[in-house]
Amino acid sequence: MCGITGYVGSRQTDDVLIEGLCRLEYRGYDSCGIALAQKNGKLYLNRVSGRVQLLKNQVKERPPQHGMAGIGHTRWATHGAPSEENAHPHTDCTGELVVVHNGIIENYPGLKENLIDSGHSFRSETDTETIVHLIEAELKKICGGSFRKKAPAETLERNFFEAFRRAVSKLEGSFAVSAIWSRCPELIISARMHSPLVIGKGKDGNFSASDVSAFLKYTKQVYFAEDGDIAVIKKDSILFYDFKGNTLERKLTEIEWDAAMAEKGGYDHFMLKEIHEQPAAVENTLRGRTMPMDGDFVIRELGIPSYFIKSLEQIQFVACGTANHAALVGCRIFGSFGIPCFAEFASEFSDRAKMLNGKTLVIAISQSGETLDTIIAVREARAAGAKILAVTNTVGSTLTRESDYTLYTRCGPEIGVASTKAFLGQLASLYILAGHFAVIRGTLDDSQAEEYAAELVKLPRHIEKILADEKNIRKTAETFSKSEHFLFISRRFNYPIALEGALKIKEISYVHAEGYAAGEMKHGPIAIIYPGMPVIAIAVSSENLELVNGNMAESKARGADVLAIVDEKSAAIAKAAHYIKIPYVPEIFSPMLTVIPLQMFAYYIALSKGCDIDKPRNLAKSVTVR
Ligand code: AGP
Repeated sequence: MCGITGYVGSRQTDDVLIEGLCRLEYRGYDSCGIALAQKNGKLYLNRVSGRVQLLKNQVKERPPQHGMAGIGHTRWATHGAPSEENAHPHTDCTGELVVVHNGIIENYPGLKENLIDSGHSFRSETDTETIVHLIEAELKKICGGSFRKKAPAETLERNFFEAFRRAVSKLEGSFAVSAIWSRCPELIISARMHSPLVIGKGKDGNFSASDVSAFLKYTKQVYFAEDGDIAVIKKDSILFYDFKGNTLERKLTEIEWDAAMAEKGGYDHFMLKEIHEQPAAVENTLRGRTMPMDGDFVIRELGIPSYFIKSLEQIQFVACGTANHAALVGCRIFGSFGIPCFAEFASEFSDRAKMLNGKTLVIAISQSGETLDTIIAVREARAAGAKILAVTNTVGSTLTRESDYTLYTRCGPEIGVASTKAFLGQLASLYILAGHFAVIRGTLDDSQAEEYAAELVKLPRHIEKILADEKNIRKTAETFSKSEHFLFISRRFNYPIALEGALKIKEISYVHAEGYAAGEMKHGPIAIIYPGMPVIAIAVSSENLELVNGNMAESKARGADVLAIVDEKSAAIAKAAHYIKIPYVPEIFSPMLTVIPLQMFAYYIALSKGCDIDKPRNLAKSVTVR
């Protein structure tokens, strides 16, 4: 997730862009940059590796630039490490065209290869740079080879639009992209496909940004661009077109948010926003990495040799906290394909590390990529000869630098201390990896792989359905808001989700909660049940459903107030006082869904207790101590 912004109008363009980038820094801040079209057909271009303040210092001596179109970007790296070369805006070969982009261009490797073959030279490792060279190539075609010829402003603007339109029509993946051309100094063109884009209509000019927080200081009048929209933005006009060039009507909306609400997309907390971002986050994790049609799993960037995957004797997961719960699900997914797996808290790993060898793959899972316990575990595993695969959300993090291979979860920055969307991204990554490994090791044949991938790509829609049940989940949570102890139980794939449900409550409500393997209840924990104690059971369809049902009955018999997370098929079987119903999916995929109501449940319990949800006491987002 990156932030893009754009402005054309009578204010100082630098000031408006920098102000916008400061507001968008929550979307990512490893590098940033701006570009302004000067009236003499040249560009101002500034990029820095680091925060917006550095950029501000770089441009502060600049002469006035009223009326110029400008675009800006604050980056959260996905393709290419955080560096000045990879920072946006990116320019074409002529240095006259510039773009900023948020999203992932899936088909960029092929496009880039063709562009290089036809003489374009690339200066960054980003997927974004492909867009600007594509616009350049189209512009050259339209202008008959060279676009340097003099022409009336109207013709130049028409050609620029046409080149931009043709270029974005060739892109696959997700993008909110804005471009300027120094020959049209008062024009910004933006487009949207699966990434947010809002266009602001102001008194002293117009705006384009990833979200309204970038320009809220200047206007509350906005157009929310839709997928497949192109916006042509000038000082006094905003026009919308589709990718075929037909004009579109878009409704102007007056928003009522203040700046803090705008950053949170109108939600009260980042945690709730991030819970709601999960369908998009999972889509981003899966994008370009599953090919359900041919039953094969393709992870272009992974590069683990097939012979190594085939000869692997074991997989060892290391992680902490929520990431460790993803690891426990991972063990069960890989295990179901016959691959021996172990998971260990990174902080408890030292003794196991000594037992590893070159036939072990260690999968280290970490949202931040900076958790010291995980990094130390990786060092110990390496010393024993194991290969390391990092599954992380953070490009260029320490973990990636200390690993042999990396799979990015691509969820966008997670601000809330309680991990939600990063967890879903970790799970989705593990499904991709397990499918990929199983195909290579021959434990998943083509048609099974096709089915598996087809189930995976349906998950974002199922998650949306659960999110739409928010009111009901909130009401259920509120009935438990005075409880002082919670017990979460389940079996097999959902046992780690019971642990995660309990962790979420502990972290943000400061209430005692335990996660237990349901089968363990009779071996001790059942003794703690008292009348009215909440027992939350994940009771989705599986061969173990009757057993979970039995555990719920045992709890109920001792007075527990049982809440069951059920699916469309298990609802008739599971017996509880309260229910939250989710869509049915095969058991192996159910952790991707069962965790969603538990995240919301924890959120609404914390809300009713008035807790500081995004910054819970005693916790930090990234734990860099042992
Ligand atoms: C999750 O809600 C927690 N904040 C915490 O358990 C976290 O998952 C853990 O500290 C690991 O962090 P990492 O994923 O950045 O390595």
